[in-house]
Amino acid sequence: MTDSLTPLSLDTVCRVEFGPGRIELLPELIAAGGHHRAFVVTDRGLRAAGVAERVLKILAAAGVEHTVYDEVAPNPSTGNVDAGAARARAFGPAVVVALGGGSVLDAAKGISLLVGNPDAVAADADHLWEAADGLPLIAVPTTAGTGAETNGFGVIEDAVACRKVYIGHPSVKPRIAVLDPELTLGLPPAATAATGIDALVHGIESLASRGANAFSVAFAAQAVAMIGHALPLAHRDGTDLDARAELMMGAHLAGQALTLSGLGLVHGIGHALTARTGTPHGVALAAVLEEVMEFSAPQAQQAYEQVARALRVAPPADGDWAGAAVTAVRELSGALDLKRPLRALGADRSLLPAIAAGAVADAVTKNAPRLPREPEVLDILTAVY
Ligand SMILES: NC(=O)c1ccc[n+]([C@@H]2O[C@H](COP(=O)([O-])OP(=O)(O)OC[C@H]3O[C@@H](n4cnc5c(N)ncnc54)[C@H](O)[C@@H]3O)[C@@H](O)[C@H]2O)c1
Repeated sequence: MTDSLTPLSLDTVCRVEFGPGRIELLPELIAAGGHHRAFVVTDRGLRAAGVAERVLKILAAAGVEHTVYDEVAPNPSTGNVDAGAARARAFGPAVVVALGGGSVLDAAKGISLLVGNPDAVAADADHLWEAADGLPLIAVPTTAGTGAETNGFGVIEDAVACRKVYIGHPSVKPRIAVLDPELTLGLPPAATAATGIDALVHGIESLASRGANAFSVAFAAQAVAMIGHALPLAHRDGTDLDARAELMMGAHLAGQALTLSGLGLVHGIGHALTARTGTPHGVALAAVLEEVMEFSAPQAQQAYEQVARALRVAPPADGDWAGAAVTAVRELSGALDLKRPLRALGADRSLLPAIAAGAVADAVTKNAPRLPREPEVLDILTAVY
């Protein structure tokens, strides 16, 4: 964590509307930004679950002219973003409404940015940070979740280069986030678990990050407490609106935290594993979470004590707060039935060195409290194979 003399700035920018039924405000929020047309980005799962139709009816009833791009895939690709941008350019000036989980929010940021840069394609991601502004964006997350509504970058798969690229720009940080827990009531238990563990890892990695500061720690500690309490309840009973609301706020706070602090090795491995096997993001994180915490513990004692206290762990008799945090996380993750050996996730043993190299090279890993070398990551991967 930075020391108390390090200069800090907090520029959250995003207006947040939180609460059951807040989605009804969407037409008003669009108009408040001076817009009257919306390009809605979503995916087929949201269509099938009826969530997209609920929101489109609200837009139609208010007379907001709109069109829909619903072809975003889980772990969206550069091709997805290019196809969406072509549709958005054809539709013309509009606010982009990103309605979905992290995949949709991330793709929508890329689409919005490419509309502002007509000659660019998503594979130019590394050069777009200095580009012209994208279309304004309103984020409506339907998972709890990635916290992707708190930042201006998307994690997009470059299938050709076989790596995740970060496509982003300050202008595509959502101007408004509508956090309506009613939209998450139909998320199935397995998806609730996978997206919820992602949020928990954001809180944990943010607390332990080299980039942690007083703001991020405040967000992250509250996030871990809320997620730790609500995730098992929402997983057990998806219709529990109280638990859904607490989880959604926790995930948002975890997003605020990670945006300020950066993450660490769990995400580095998770990205590399997903890029090579297609494993859902949260499942990839769960596969290595406790093992990475054990590896990091020598350099993360204070952070893991904060994790354990946020998870309401009783003071350990031996004073080993880091060990107690790992045990608590193992129990929480175990109850969600999310952890799988890598061999069950389609990772052939021959892929492990490339996954280790990808994890070390990923930009998120540079904030890990204990910086790993490839052989050390390979040891972790072998242990969970
Ligand atoms: N930008 C960031 O800060 C950030 C942070 C973490 C993760 N990510 C990225 O987010 C992506 C993962 O996002 P995710 O975990 O939210 O999953 P997701 O967006 O891929 O959604 C998973 C599935 O759940 C369905 N779904 C979503 N909401 C639903 C609902 N309310 N009811 C029924 N079904 C619903 C979707 O249709 C999809 O099939 C990854 O690509 C990851 O890299 C981005």
